[in-house]
Amino acid sequence: MPEYTALALVSVAATVLLARALRVRLFRTAQYWLALGIVFAFQVLVDGWLTKLSAPIVVYNPEHHLGVRWPWDIPVEDFLFGFSLVTSSLILWERQKERNMTPARPVARGEVPEAFDEVADRYDLMVALNPGYHAHLRSSAEALVASLPRVHGPDAPAPARVVDLGCGSGASTRALLDAFSAAGRPVEVVGVDGSAGMLRSARAKSWPPGVSFVQARAEQLVDRPDLTGPGGLDAVFAAYLVRNVPDRDALLRSLRAVLAPGGVVVVHDYSVAGRAVPTAIWTAVCWGVVVPLGWLTSRRTRLYRYLWRSVLDFDSTARLMDRLQTAGFEDVRTRTVRGWQRGIVHTVSGRRPAAAR
Ligand SMILES: C[S@@+](CC[C@H](N)C(=O)[O-])C[C@H]1O[C@@H](n2cnc3c(N)ncnc32)[C@H](O)[C@@H]1O
Repeated sequence: MPEYTALALVSVAATVLLARALRVRLFRTAQYWLALGIVFAFQVLVDGWLTKLSAPIVVYNPEHHLGVRWPWDIPVEDFLFGFSLVTSSLILWERQKERNMTPARPVARGEVPEAFDEVADRYDLMVALNPGYHAHLRSSAEALVASLPRVHGPDAPAPARVVDLGCGSGASTRALLDAFSAAGRPVEVVGVDGSAGMLRSARAKSWPPGVSFVQARAEQLVDRPDLTGPGGLDAVFAAYLVRNVPDRDALLRSLRAVLAPGGVVVVHDYSVAGRAVPTAIWTAVCWGVVVPLGWLTSRRTRLYRYLWRSVLDFDSTARLMDRLQTAGFEDVRTRTVRGWQRGIVHTVSGRRPAAAR
């Protein structure tokens, strides 16, 4: 193949690879194709003038190109190079724009869902690399099922109504479904999350009837009777959520309000406050594994640096239990998981009193 032709084709392939590597979805936008059309229109005018065979300004060695010239006398390879130059500039430009819009400043607690948008398409990969993540969620989901009053079951047609608050990409929703199914109890789950990206990833999975996903802030659940139903919810599962909410007491009070009498809240989260060994393990794992893996999987680390800091700043389990009691929950309990995350990952649960107080 002539040299100029081969290089033109290589430039096109390299441009397409660059778009994929930087995850810039330029080719799916109408604006890009419109811009390319405008660029080509001007290229025809300028290139056509420069390469016209009647009075060429730029002369091509016939050995080094295919010899196909269209329109006028423009070698077709020029259009391939035109595509590569313009497109690679736009790809780098788009990439920079994305970075400027999401500067690497620290994540604040109130903007956690937006920060999850940045890593949503890599989140499942991150948790797959975390041994025990799914098993721990499952054990908290089982605790939730076990603490639900046995008013729902094969003899009672109504399924339990549960909200998975901060459902993310659906790992906790799946744990709930599996735990209910293993106990032979029907359930309807509404996954609620503030991150559009995480919800997109959850909705892309396959779910049985009775599972739905809604974008909303956890703090707004109390204003959404369409999600909580007239009689209130049987349970709220909040896995890795409460730590991220700025006003935890207000959130817990609102959860008590949306639960039916006797309904339960199960909080599943990291907590190391006041304990030196879990704090040291947590810090070593975050900086030795989680932050580097976050960079490798998403080229971003600010959410994972926030994760580290937010856990250090989070309540001890005793403080969280105290908050639940103050919010009006009874039968407040805690337990930790097995394995290396023992003393780091905890389940804390409480029940709304069955009789009104
Ligand atoms: C670490 S993920 C956990 C997802 C899922 N529960 C799991 O166990 O895999 C935390 C999720 O909470 C969501 N989140 C954080 N703060 C929130 C808020 N105030 N309202 C709604 N969602 C929130 C984030 O968008 C994110 O998807």
